[in-house]
Amino acid sequence: MTAGGEGTRERVVVFDTTLRDGEQSPGATLGAVAKLRLARQLSLLGVDVIEAGFPAASSDDLRAVRRIAELVGTDGSRRAEGRPPTVCALARAVRGDIDAAWAGVRSAASPRIHTFLATSEIHRQHKLRLTAEQTLDRIRDAVSYARCLCPDVEFSPEDASRTEIDFLCEAVAVAAVAGATTINVPDTVGYETPTEFGARIARVVEQLAGTPVIVSAHCHDDLGLATANSVAALAAGARQVEVTVNGIGERAGNAALEEVVMILDARADWLSLRTGIDTTRIAETSRLVSDLTGVRVQPHKAIVGANAFAHESGIHQDGILKNPATYEILCPEAVGLGPSVLVLGKHSGRHAFRVRLTELGYDLEEAALDSAFAAFKALADRKKNVGDRDIEAMLGDLLESGAGGHRLVDLQVVSGRPGMPTATVRIIDPDGVEHVEVAVGTGPVDAVYRAIDRVVGTESELLEFNVHSVTEGIDAQGKVTVHVSDNKGRVASGVGADTDIIVASAKAYLCGLNRLSASVAQAGASAGRRT
Ligand code: KIV
Ligand code: ZN
Repeated sequence: MTAGGEGTRERVVVFDTTLRDGEQSPGATLGAVAKLRLARQLSLLGVDVIEAGFPAASSDDLRAVRRIAELVGTDGSRRAEGRPPTVCALARAVRGDIDAAWAGVRSAASPRIHTFLATSEIHRQHKLRLTAEQTLDRIRDAVSYARCLCPDVEFSPEDASRTEIDFLCEAVAVAAVAGATTINVPDTVGYETPTEFGARIARVVEQLAGTPVIVSAHCHDDLGLATANSVAALAAGARQVEVTVNGIGERAGNAALEEVVMILDARADWLSLRTGIDTTRIAETSRLVSDLTGVRVQPHKAIVGANAFAHESGIHQDGILKNPATYEILCPEAVGLGPSVLVLGKHSGRHAFRVRLTELGYDLEEAALDSAFAAFKALADRKKNVGDRDIEAMLGDLLESGAGGHRLVDLQVVSGRPGMPTATVRIIDPDGVEHVEVAVGTGPVDAVYRAIDRVVGTESELLEFNVHSVTEGIDAQGKVTVHVSDNKGRVASGVGADTDIIVASAKAYLCGLNRLSASVAQAGASAGRRT
């Protein structure tokens, strides 16, 4: 949890939009099972609000939001502070969208509707074709309509940071009178600097003084200023901050949850604010987001990058050994990067395995637990010590194979030089029919991918292929991440892990192809409606 002196530090609302704005990262589409898993993890992490999706965009989004609203916080993922998180859905400022958002969140213990309308001149004139007066009318109508349905309504003047400040103040005043409980100020295109954005927030706070409205900040990273702008907003009086895990999101992404939270944690001497985040769950949440979305974290990324706590220079290493505070302002354990608390092995029983899964945030039904335990035993036969990261990688695979689509049963590869690398794959299709195919390739992975293509039959292109090890040691699992695209330019990621990297490569490719065909189905249903 956060550092000392909590009682005197004012509490900030952490609004996580990984499942909505984060999912707008190219290629980061998440299926319903993955969304629910991630929502549970966010609940365990201790976020206050989960923006679960944009129900008017597609029937899949509506279904996913509804499931999250029904389950998260009422099950094993109840957050540390005891209260379930608020579940929020996005809606344009039109009644149809607001109805869809309400249909998504209404069964949550604490539902919220988030409606938005652009207020900047460029958006009013060129996108919306509305006068200033018409814009205010639309805000009034949308917010008051949402308030009739739901007691908790957030309004966002999109592109607020490029909106004339006097008009922005008028717009937020209208939203407040119409019943908005939170007013969010988005730097939609990542345009302002911290000094400017802080001043803008101060004006909005002043405008809303004397009302119960909470002012929020939502910053994009186009100029690399999203975190700095978010913190400047908090310093200027905002009390909600909108973030995504690993900073994923539209274009250059959003402010990163882990950065904003750890700034408040490490610099309480500068800004006396606190969050309800269990910081020791940050690393596992970051890994989960990376695995589910296929968006890898750059090694030098603050807080969660592989090198964030690595010391290369001899002088630094010497200092760290003498006193870690010489070169570390945070300790790795504070963000959950310490060693695994409990290492399981082939003699570990079902009970110990189940307990560890619950601690890691997995709430599996009996049948899923049986498969997970069987997979764990198989892994423990190949790998002496099975740590948390191995379990996370293994469950990621199981989660994918349980989500429908094609599933790898077996593969065999003949490789080496001179010769023709040849692969045989055995795959079960979504209807349960088993297929065996053989192909020759330029290397073992190429041969496997050609054989898979013969079974799946989609026209796809492999855009990216990465392999890295889950943990250290010769028996470590390899984790493969791929990006594949179809002939319409749609991109999906896939991830797979195994102690055999050819098997991991096959799992990752199949996962990518499955996600691609799921996103084709979803795109068909939604007919391209997006913010
Ligand atoms: O960036 C943005 O303006 C948004 C709004 C919908 C809040 O994501
Ligand atoms: Zn945004």
